[in-house]
Amino acid sequence: MSSPAQHDDAAFASYRASFTEACGFLDFASYGPPSRAVRERVVHLLELAGDGGPGIDGTLSGEDLRARQSFARLSGFPLENVGLTGSTSLGLFQVAFGLTGGSVLVSAGEFPANRYPWLRTSAAGRARVELIGGPGTRMTPDVVAHALTSDTVAVSVSAVDFRTGYRADLAGLRAVIGPDRLLVVDGIQAFGVADLEWTQADVLIAGAQKWIRAGWGAAALALSPQGLERIEPLLTGWTGVLDSRRYDGDEHLPLPGAQRFSVSNLSPYATGAFAEALALIETVGVPAIEGIVAAHAQALIAQLDAAGVPVLSPRDRSGAGIVVAGVAGRAARAHAALAAAGVTATLHGEDRIRFSVHATTRSAVFGEAAAVLAPFV
Ligand SMILES: Cc1ncc(COP(=O)(O)O)c(C=O)c1O
Repeated sequence: MSSPAQHDDAAFASYRASFTEACGFLDFASYGPPSRAVRERVVHLLELAGDGGPGIDGTLSGEDLRARQSFARLSGFPLENVGLTGSTSLGLFQVAFGLTGGSVLVSAGEFPANRYPWLRTSAAGRARVELIGGPGTRMTPDVVAHALTSDTVAVSVSAVDFRTGYRADLAGLRAVIGPDRLLVVDGIQAFGVADLEWTQADVLIAGAQKWIRAGWGAAALALSPQGLERIEPLLTGWTGVLDSRRYDGDEHLPLPGAQRFSVSNLSPYATGAFAEALALIETVGVPAIEGIVAAHAQALIAQLDAAGVPVLSPRDRSGAGIVVAGVAGRAARAHAALAAAGVTATLHGEDRIRFSVHATTRSAVFGEAAAVLAPFV
């Protein structure tokens, strides 16, 4: 993990110019509006597909490699340990069904995409899920250390919690679980904006549609050597095996690397968007993006403080881009008032409004958002 970096003004200006989201869009933890570069890439690929020229199949499927290469550079995992899948959930299902024997520790307050795969594998008689805590539980190294048993074979956490903005201490978790248990990390709420020690994980899965800003339909699945060895490729499909295009009627062995978890070809428009979005992140680098996101989060917190609105998310830069405002019992009406003022945020139950800011967010809107919430406190 690097310290907050100074950004290169020219590179950042060009990065920023590619994004056109509305000024009041403060909802990146739901989805991140894709850049112009991503949209243009998808249109270009569709046009190539429409032309149907020779070799087009190879050109379109080449987008997979671009996405994997960028993800490998940004995460620190070697290329052969990085594969692609269709969503964070699909990646987690692959991993959950690939584990057998022992139990997997998961917070009951996790986003549902990180609970159902474990519930299903448990019901199918493979790895058993052990749910601990509830909404808001922080999976700190201490909490995890107390919940471990001799039966625990894996711990599954979000890198940044979708509800509270809590950022997991991946190195601390690794230290308490030891080298033999698997650390499974859902990185969708952090990858691209938080400079974490991703290679502490045995499994890292990150969908493209939120902070990476590539739209839906692709996710990366990266595994450590231990993860590759211990997670059975139970659901490998025809694209996840050696000599997949030999068509000889034989069953072929799974590929040696992370691509063994491939079930079928992904849409090249989704992988092309993913590749382009990751490449754009690389033009400025995650530490620079993280520094700007942290400054924006601080500015929003300052406006909420000034308006007397309680802040329920971490106050330091550990919250990545998530800032949660407390509006006890009146969140639905406050959320509607924000929408009427052109501010997009997420309604979480009756008491909470989740804002989420990116590096391209314009801070001028923060004062207005705080002023809209003030009467509801
Ligand atoms: C922590 C977390 N994991 C996963 C998802 C989504 O998963 P998927 O890519 O399967 O839609 C979300 C949000 O939608 C999330 O907040």
